[in-house]
Amino acid sequence: MERGVTRSAEKRRRRRRLFLGAFALLLVVVVILAVLYVVGVGPKEPALKPTFMERCEAFKGYECEDVWNAFQLGYVGKDPCGVTHEAYDPLMVGVPFRSTCNRLMFWSKTKDVVHNFTKESSCYVTVEETLLGSVLDGLTWCGKEGSNETFTTGCPGWTDCENNPVRSFWNRVSADFADSACGDVAAMLNGSIATPFHPDSVFASNEVKRFHFPRVKRLQVVLVSQENSATNCTNASLKNLQKELDPKISYECREVTEADLHDCSARPKEFCGNCW
Ligand SMILES: *[C@@H]1O[C@H](CO)[C@@H](O)[C@H](O)[C@H]1NC(C)=O
Ligand SMILES: *[C@@H]1O[C@H](CO)[C@@H](O)[C@H](O)[C@H]1NC(C)=O
Ligand SMILES: *[C@@H]1O[C@H](CO)[C@@H](O)[C@H](O)[C@H]1NC(C)=O
Ligand SMILES: *[C@@H]1O[C@H](CO)[C@@H](O)[C@H](O)[C@H]1NC(C)=O
Ligand SMILES: *[C@@H]1O[C@H](CO)[C@@H](O)[C@H](O)[C@H]1NC(C)=O
Repeated sequence: MERGVTRSAEKRRRRRRLFLGAFALLLVVVVILAVLYVVGVGPKEPALKPTFMERCEAFKGYECEDVWNAFQLGYVGKDPCGVTHEAYDPLMVGVPFRSTCNRLMFWSKTKDVVHNFTKESSCYVTVEETLLGSVLDGLTWCGKEGSNETFTTGCPGWTDCENNPVRSFWNRVSADFADSACGDVAAMLNGSIATPFHPDSVFASNEVKRFHFPRVKRLQVVLVSQENSATNCTNASLKNLQKELDPKISYECREVTEADLHDCSARPKEFCGNCW
């Protein structure tokens, strides 16, 4: 009987020690997480501004803080499905595209290849190599009503609603970029897909319609193809492109391989005009 009581008291003590130990451990974990959160290691949203500023500083002659403030006017404090392309007027006024002759490159469904090419060759410039295109390339952002903050998560996707901050930005920037085109214009399209000129693409819906003669004289489509490509320059979607183009602008289509592009970018700059 005596021994039985002692043993159960012993058990209770052990259980209490175990409980206190677990509680202390939990407390330590909570404190560590709280400290990490406060110093910014925790599950905080990544900030947009540092990336924006760092990319902006790579361009000379701009007040990046002013560019950031003009950009924010577009979406901060607004419903993330209520941002139109006009919302970016202050930004576009602050950082307008200069008219550029014979060097602008448009693209659709060839993002990696076209940027590798423009980086290697320095003959052509895509919108992503301009200040506005570069600072926001690949990023997501939005605001919220009643908040002055910029969010990078929980924002609407490209097709969730038409007037979302990211989509309106790219529509606006690509339209203004197309307006700045002059002389010969190039467009790199994808010959490995069935419809290289897709009506839903930014190029089709927003850029082609903005090329006007005599400012723009020629459109050269560079169809990046392989041995057994899905499409060639005879494809019906490219006939549609010609129909939508200002009829006074001359049109050419060239089928080139990725290897051709590589050879072309290895040539000296004075041959920029006749890569294809
Ligand atoms: C064309 O599109 C296909 C399928 O999306 C992709 O795998 C390929 O890399 C693209 N080609 C070019 C030249 O970008
Ligand atoms: C682009 O260039 C990089 C580095 O030269 C290479 O690793 C990558 O495969 C290239 N991408 C395409 C799509 O050609
Ligand atoms: C947002 O507003 C608060 C309080 O008015 C202010 O302290 C903070 O700096 C503002 N943040 C931004 C990003 O403007
Ligand atoms: C282009 O593609 C069509 C069908 O997709 C084919 O009939 C035609 O021979 C091709 N033309 C050339 C020049 O390869
Ligand atoms: C050519 O373009 C049309 C749409 O304009 C498309 O339906 C067709 O599949 C395309 N590709 C080929 C290989 O014919």
